[in-house]
Amino acid sequence: MTRRLLVTAALPYANGPIHIGHLVEYLQTDIWVRFQKLRSHRCLYICADDTHGTAIMIRARKEGRSELDLIGEMSESHQRDFAGFGIEFDNYGSTHSDENRKICGEFWQALRSENLVTERTVEQLFDPEAETFLADRFVRGTCPKCGRTDQAGDNCTCGHTYNPTDLIDPVSTLSGATPVLRESAHLFVELEKLHGFLNQWVSESGALQSETANYLKGHFLAEELRDWDVSRPSPYFGFEIPDSPGNYWYVWFDAPIGYIASTQQWCDRNGEKLEDWWKSDECEVHHFIGKDITYFHTLFWPGMLKTAGYSLPTKVHIHGFLNVNGTKMSKRDGTLVKAETFLKHIDPAALRYFYASKLSSRVEDLDLSLTEFVDKVNSDLVGKVVNLASRVGKFAGRTGLSDTYPDDGGLFKKAAEAGDAIAEAYEQCEYARAMRLVMELADAANPFVEHAKPWEMKKDPERQDELRDVCTVALNLFRQLAVYLTPVLPSLAKACGELLDDPIVSWDQSQTPLVGRGVNKFKRMMDRVQLENLEKMIEESKEEAAAEAESADSPASQYNDSDQPLKDEPMADEITIDDFMKVDLRVARVVEAEHVPEANKLLKLTLSLGGDETRQVFAGIKAAYEPEKLVGRLVVMVANLKPRKMRFGLSEGMVCASGPGGEEVFILGVDEGAQPGQRVH
Ligand code: 2FM
Ligand code: ZN
Repeated sequence: MTRRLLVTAALPYANGPIHIGHLVEYLQTDIWVRFQKLRSHRCLYICADDTHGTAIMIRARKEGRSELDLIGEMSESHQRDFAGFGIEFDNYGSTHSDENRKICGEFWQALRSENLVTERTVEQLFDPEAETFLADRFVRGTCPKCGRTDQAGDNCTCGHTYNPTDLIDPVSTLSGATPVLRESAHLFVELEKLHGFLNQWVSESGALQSETANYLKGHFLAEELRDWDVSRPSPYFGFEIPDSPGNYWYVWFDAPIGYIASTQQWCDRNGEKLEDWWKSDECEVHHFIGKDITYFHTLFWPGMLKTAGYSLPTKVHIHGFLNVNGTKMSKRDGTLVKAETFLKHIDPAALRYFYASKLSSRVEDLDLSLTEFVDKVNSDLVGKVVNLASRVGKFAGRTGLSDTYPDDGGLFKKAAEAGDAIAEAYEQCEYARAMRLVMELADAANPFVEHAKPWEMKKDPERQDELRDVCTVALNLFRQLAVYLTPVLPSLAKACGELLDDPIVSWDQSQTPLVGRGVNKFKRMMDRVQLENLEKMIEESKEEAAAEAESADSPASQYNDSDQPLKDEPMADEITIDDFMKVDLRVARVVEAEHVPEANKLLKLTLSLGGDETRQVFAGIKAAYEPEKLVGRLVVMVANLKPRKMRFGLSEGMVCASGPGGEEVFILGVDEGAQPGQRVH
């Protein structure tokens, strides 16, 4: 029976590049879609860029360009990265499209007519300098419970959670300004009214992995569902709500609707009806997402779909996060590798296979250990699969394939029979199991060639028929593996198709051997992965991160640099003496020190570098030092730091200090006798 499947991967945000962590999901989904297509089902892979929200607005402002310009460039680079990894979408749209605006309006109307929208006044922190309301993550400050400084807008490292309005000394990370409270009207979806439906859907639809269903039932669904705030006041980059001028749909409202809007574009291009994909019992809807966005896809989204009369997800496939070498990916360690950087050093097929060999249907994190990556790709793909073809490839061009399939001791038959179990594993998203089953077949096939020793037959004119038979068996066993691996390794499938002049288009090609035909010239199919190249890739990622940090000329990073808790900071990477000498540290004397009335944390210092040379520096040391007591002291300053314009004036350097921040800041002292202006080394 031919199934109809609509498949989505989460829409990537248009504010950053695709990295190897994102690729877990896009590859997982691509493999599933390719599998379904190979099984001759009608299947669409739909995605789009997620383009709205404060982050995009702020970034565009900072870069001095329009949001449209920014999202246009991001979309191009995302699509280039995906294509580089062989990820093939049927449509790649954007949430900032006419189709999306229209369908958002339709959802909105449905929510209104079901009486699910209510309006309330919300008091929110507002950045008077950036002139925007601040989402939680754009505010930092002192925890109201334990007093730790520089904590996130909604939770502290002590475990306490709060509203950003509860923070002591809040600071906007956008501008460094002190936010003020401002009221505005917000629109909410009363999710509680859908509680009964959601309970039933979560428990009975079978759409969720049992661990997810249990989690939702034990947490959110066990209590009253909170109203969902779906509007944001201007300024906001998004769609203005038609019946609420000056208010915009929150990015998470229009993002999932983007799945439908992107499908609409495909339908328009292909003369099909959206209803057949999104409003029909005949069509399955599958979402692939990461565990961090479970809530949106398993409560809000089904609630919206139900209200607007669209199909509910048949299945929400949730995966875990990627670790590298056993720990969280990090820019600093060079393990948060951009897709683009990866492609410069490593064959993308290697990553496709490696992820497949790690993925199951469970919500588990997976680990990319670099040495395991090299071992697995080289031993499985190069050593077992490609080897099968390359050992006979150069003779087969001459011999062609035998007219009837020779006796292979039952190898082909056994591998054909394994097809169902492999297909079932793919269907269940148990790719690791599928890969194990395929490698077992490869393990069984290789000894056949080893024992037959075709390279010896080649020299003996009497044994040419035998040689042809060996080539026929080896290439057919290889082709079987290539069919089974097609969803994971489309490039290998293509190479196999070209070698045998028989493109792989259907799973069924694994069931019948090819005979009585020529074989094309053998071309190299895959090279071994070198650890050295992975190391180069990591190095390059580190350099990219360092360059980004250097050019991140934002007040937010300035603020973090001087206020980040240092206690648990890992040791920085090794530098040379030349690197160190780039930092011009000077002895300076504090000649003036005063409060900055508008700033909660800063003191304004005037530092003398000897003679007439003075510098003005704003230092985040107010909680720890009385200004009067600083005057006359010798300190160490970074004298060649690029001056930074702050709200209160120009800051022309940095005073060296240690400590986690707040009251615990300790200025580095200099013994009397040293002269202001002297270099420190
Ligand atoms: O978490 C994210 O990166 C979001 N951009 C995913 C959106 S998925 C869907 F709802 F659009
Ligand atoms: Zn705390």
